[in-house]
Amino acid sequence: MVNTPSTRTRDGAGTRTRDGAGTDWWREAVIYQIYPRSFADSDGDGIGDLPGVVARLDDLVALGVDAIWLSPFYPSPQADAGYDVADYRDVDPIFGRLADADRLIAEAHDRGLRVIVDLVPNHTSSAHPWFVEALGAEPGSSARDRYVFRDGRGPDGDQPPNSWRSVFGGPAWTRVDGPDGTPGQWYLHLFDAGQPDLNWDSAQVRDEFVAILRFWLDRGVDGFRVDVAHGLVKQADLADWHYPEETTSGDHVDQPRPPMWDQDGVHEIYRQWRSVLDEYPGQQILVAEAWVQPAERLAAYVRPDEMHQAFNFEYLEAAWTSEAQRTVIERSLAATEAVGAPTTWVLSNHDVLRHATRLALPIGAARPRGIGANDPQPDTALGLRRARAATLLMLALPGSAYLYQGEELGLPEHTTLPDEVRQDPTWRRTDHTERGRDGCRVPIPWEADSPSYGFGPTDASWLPQPPVWAEYALDRQRDVPGSTYELYRTALRLRRKLGLGAGRLRWLESPEDVLAFCVDEVTVVTNFGAEPVSLPPGTEPLIASGPLNGSGRVPTDVTVWARQRVR
Ligand code: GLC
Repeated sequence: MVNTPSTRTRDGAGTRTRDGAGTDWWREAVIYQIYPRSFADSDGDGIGDLPGVVARLDDLVALGVDAIWLSPFYPSPQADAGYDVADYRDVDPIFGRLADADRLIAEAHDRGLRVIVDLVPNHTSSAHPWFVEALGAEPGSSARDRYVFRDGRGPDGDQPPNSWRSVFGGPAWTRVDGPDGTPGQWYLHLFDAGQPDLNWDSAQVRDEFVAILRFWLDRGVDGFRVDVAHGLVKQADLADWHYPEETTSGDHVDQPRPPMWDQDGVHEIYRQWRSVLDEYPGQQILVAEAWVQPAERLAAYVRPDEMHQAFNFEYLEAAWTSEAQRTVIERSLAATEAVGAPTTWVLSNHDVLRHATRLALPIGAARPRGIGANDPQPDTALGLRRARAATLLMLALPGSAYLYQGEELGLPEHTTLPDEVRQDPTWRRTDHTERGRDGCRVPIPWEADSPSYGFGPTDASWLPQPPVWAEYALDRQRDVPGSTYELYRTALRLRRKLGLGAGRLRWLESPEDVLAFCVDEVTVVTNFGAEPVSLPPGTEPLIASGPLNGSGRVPTDVTVWARQRVR
């Protein structure tokens, strides 16, 4: 029987609006991303696992989130930390067993938490039985047709079929030996060579993913985060792309659309998936991970008969200035409103520098792909101050918000990881020029004085935790007024109580370096400028991301939620 969270034990956002009317839970949900290998380790092998997640569910209820999204836990050689899936219908032994996934879904539902799993449809692992079969099959065979195999260029076919580059560095093609052992065709991999791209023109591929959706829907999941949703369909001619440094994403608005991203053909796939989800009772959702700009193009993914949400990476990337923030908020709201979808907001995930570090970098500079011990080290205090202000601003915005594990502790990026422990394929594939994403993936601290800071029962941790983690541990912050954890907890409680996720935003007049708006009865002020500013007359603070100054004014890099003063 499918266990759904329909009988919720808590006054959960999304099940009811303030006036008691039913609503779509996902339109205003706060969704917490769990990166399973770094969340909680139950067996002491240094890698987090599903039983570890189950044991920490009460902590997530206490934090006050509505749903969890788990990064992949499927059987995988872990060439890209599980985003290389060898079997879409099971759990990798390092994370547990299928029964643990079932238990996790049931236990989460018992607590009123919804569960979203990761679906990786752009590519499989090279260890997937389909790819193994393709390697042993002839060019032109149906086994090869599930992937993108092509002959090479040049007289000996020893040049890749086109100029595309892998997102992780190096060419996007690898040559394989033919069944007779001589060099043969090339296969496309937009990511690591261990992640061959599927051919979405193949009916077998399409049918298989519908079956995978049903497999997890039947087990009771509440939705899917769709990995690389903008990549599945490639321009049919696989034309060369002459902006090699821009191969990595579809979000460079001033250039022609890259032939590997955001092709119109992807939408038909999502319409089919939506019709599958709509067959199920409950409100299961599809969430697009699509690095697509501008916002109007992204909004196409969340038209009424496609996905429910798309990550708003334009927001994540917006500079820390009042102008950039206002522009991205306005644009995002308008673009999703035009198609009737909720806007989403996100500041951190497992692919980007944690925002407590990112926001300390020079304002407006390009987002670096990793920071190493010999790079200039960001100002931790400045980063945290801005991160707290950014989060409080984000949690006031109408729509759905995503949190990444550890940000509620104010965790910075690990910026001094020894290079020899790095595991992100980016580091290797860029010939050690880009450090990649390991710094945001370090196992998180729960208890300051326990082995591995409470991550697991032993000292083992697949990436070393810095000693400074003790200061950030949950047990050092719980019930401590002013801690980042308590800021998140209070903000989430107020957001739910005041129905901010379902509110309407109205801008207020403000000085140039200040962002001020109302969401229903709550006034939000963020000060980006050098001088403290007053709250609007007649209002009093409800919650602030940092102390106000002596005369109750809002200092630099602080966000305040305020309400009309009660006389
Ligand atoms: C997505 C994931 C990222 C992964 C890539 C390839 O961008 O978020 O972690 O490396 O897809 O699957």
